[in-house]
Amino acid sequence: MRIGILTGGGDCPGLNAVIRAIVRKGEWVYGDELIGFLDGWRGVLEQSTKPLSVESMRGTLPRGGTVLGSSRTNPYKVEGGPEDAKRAIAELSLDALIAIGGEDTLGVGNRLYGDGVPVVGVPKTIDNDLSGTELTFGFDTAVQICTDAIDRLHTTAESHDRVMVVEVMGRHAGHIALWSGIAGGATVTLIPEEPFDIDDVCASIKRRHARGRYASIVVVAEGASPKAGTLELVSGEMDEFGHVRLGGIGNLLADEIEARTGYDTRVTALGHVQRGGTPTAFDRVLATRYGIAAIDTVHDGDFGKMVALQCGEIVRVSLSEAVGTLKEVDPAVYEVAKSFFS
Ligand code: F6P
Repeated sequence: MRIGILTGGGDCPGLNAVIRAIVRKGEWVYGDELIGFLDGWRGVLEQSTKPLSVESMRGTLPRGGTVLGSSRTNPYKVEGGPEDAKRAIAELSLDALIAIGGEDTLGVGNRLYGDGVPVVGVPKTIDNDLSGTELTFGFDTAVQICTDAIDRLHTTAESHDRVMVVEVMGRHAGHIALWSGIAGGATVTLIPEEPFDIDDVCASIKRRHARGRYASIVVVAEGASPKAGTLELVSGEMDEFGHVRLGGIGNLLADEIEARTGYDTRVTALGHVQRGGTPTAFDRVLATRYGIAAIDTVHDGDFGKMVALQCGEIVRVSLSEAVGTLKEVDPAVYEVAKSFFS
């Protein structure tokens, strides 16, 4: 078979491990020809490709990023985009397309599948907010990076008896904040699913400080927001999928905490450091399992599906189920975090 592969949306560690696994089993076991599209759906629209082979993928397992490049191009926002995408599949004589991406990339894949394009999806998002799967690869790496950063911030915060606000990724869901907040022993963790009350946040910090010279760590997901009518948030520009560029809640929060408590407060926005570098061993294994499952799914002719992790097993779910709703944090796990709020 001739099979196209693309990586779309924000990158995350483990993308190359997925591609490598698809290519390894595709070329060596099934005798496939693998073609990579450059820069996500943009590469499909422009028919910009590069051949992929076992040889060309050597050494990429531990490398972050994606050898194919990525973009947030949405063919459904480009005049004639869906037709150009279908034409590319036909003109390149592709028998299948494997799309590695999150809600947006796979949402496009699902619509094209509805239009007759044989698509299989692989779940990717650093935010871990894709439905149908318990985990996306890259998330474990991001949580480890944030936890390491929080551990480091603890020691400097303690030296100066400061409040440290740590802003982490998580546009619509607070999985990274929640996991790294619990792992890093945060005083308060704020997530998009539950708008926060700045009075409660400051009261927690004051209670902790009243007990002695204890510094505080506040972990905040970039998409967390104050309760309506409390603090004003300025929003940024939108991308082609209608998402606002975030970043800024950490600074707002730090300013308010310092003004309201009088405690010296600093902010660290971890930003894209969370998406960079080598994947953890866990993410390399998960990504490899997804890649192998994806090429098998293609050869079973089981299109319109996304490979997924459920109860430790790799399964297949429909693309429409995966992109239907976002997976928010489990309230029971957030309650665990709250047990440690001062
Ligand atoms: O892909 C998800 C994500 O990492 C979000 O957590 C974040 O808001 C966004 O991407 C950042 O996007 P960009 O890389 O385009 O700045």
